[in-house]
Amino acid sequence: MWKARRVVVGVAGGIAAYKTAELVSRLRQQEAEVEVVMTEAATRFISPLTLSTLAGRPVWTDMFAVSGPVPHVELARKAELVIVAPATADLMARMAIGLADELLTALILATRAPVLVVPSMNANMYTHPATRDNLRRLSELGYHLLEPESGFLACGETGPGRLPEVETILEAAARLLVRRASLKGVRVVVTAGPTREYLDPVRFLGNASSGKMGYAVAAEARDRGAEVVLVTGPTALAPPPGVKVVRVESAEDMFRAVMSHAAEARVVVKAAAVADFRPKAKVPGKIKKGEAETLVMELERTPDILAELGRVKPQHQVLVGFAAETDDPLRHARDKLQAKNLDLIVLNDLSRAGAGFEVDTNIVTLIFRDGRVRELPLMSKMEVARRLWDAVEELLTTDKE
Ligand code: PMT
Repeated sequence: MWKARRVVVGVAGGIAAYKTAELVSRLRQQEAEVEVVMTEAATRFISPLTLSTLAGRPVWTDMFAVSGPVPHVELARKAELVIVAPATADLMARMAIGLADELLTALILATRAPVLVVPSMNANMYTHPATRDNLRRLSELGYHLLEPESGFLACGETGPGRLPEVETILEAAARLLVRRASLKGVRVVVTAGPTREYLDPVRFLGNASSGKMGYAVAAEARDRGAEVVLVTGPTALAPPPGVKVVRVESAEDMFRAVMSHAAEARVVVKAAAVADFRPKAKVPGKIKKGEAETLVMELERTPDILAELGRVKPQHQVLVGFAAETDDPLRHARDKLQAKNLDLIVLNDLSRAGAGFEVDTNIVTLIFRDGRVRELPLMSKMEVARRLWDAVEELLTTDKE
């Protein structure tokens, strides 16, 4: 599977850099086209000569070394996959804030290929809150993280921070390459985040959706090669690079944006938390509280976007809804699947800790139109997104047969 695949191996300055030699060698033995990019610090741990000999071509260390094509852009464009091993605390901090202060970080910023980040460092550095924050941010930005192993570290301490075995890195990297092609050219619409229904110019009815679930779904589809339109309510998240982003505020805006893209889409996934009601009339000026003890406002239903999508669904479209439930969740989710003509519904049981709004994790049950039910344990929203697309791909394959 590696034959002629264009892989960039990024090397940062940590003692585990010596293990990268084996990684590069294994990729080359399997006939991958390997480009090695080293930070200046990496060159102190392992000689560029070693890695260039194993890669069979010169190693890149300097953003300004050659005239002609700009190396970080050329390498970024050619890469089908970037593996950063070892990724140090410093490199990850720079990636987390989008610095492009040397060739490796610039390339990582410029590429649209999946990036596998393999951290390795001292255990205290790895567990430091600053590093944990950066890891969380990298995950939000759509980078794929491979947890380090625990054990004896070169610094003499024991704990998490060891670079995983080369075999483990190759397996994780292979999964990314395979996934990359699996939705190639498939048009996908994903919705995410909350909607806002304004009462007056400054106040709105909203909800606690952070957008994390929907953004993870969009990023995963992109990583599998899909052409993704992400229709998003207001969130604090940076949208995943490489997807077309349509920003909306109200349920009505989301309705229009989704309906204008959905007809062309092979798959629509509605992870957004859409308000069910809005004020019947928006007050033009800021509502004054005056002497009033209560305020009564009449609300009306918003358009049910998912129900409308189900009504006009083209024959080969796969329509996926989410359900956020607290009471009798399975029954309510099944009812929604039927009523809205869905192929799959993702049930969040909000009564369980670690599931639903705002958190980085979720506990979901996938319910298929044909009655199959797949209960998943607590996992990151990124992992939920992977399982969701695996399920959608099953439906797409069945449809083709
Ligand atoms: O954003 P996060 O903080 O990561 O949280 C994720 C999430 C909990 C918001 C997400 O996983 C989720 O469950 N989204 C759906 C929440 C919801 O609105 O559920 P619902 O049961 O009210 O709606 C069912 C489905 O109908 C949803 O797909 C919703 O997008 C859709 N809907 C609802 C109302 C409406 N007017 N139009 C719709 O399309």
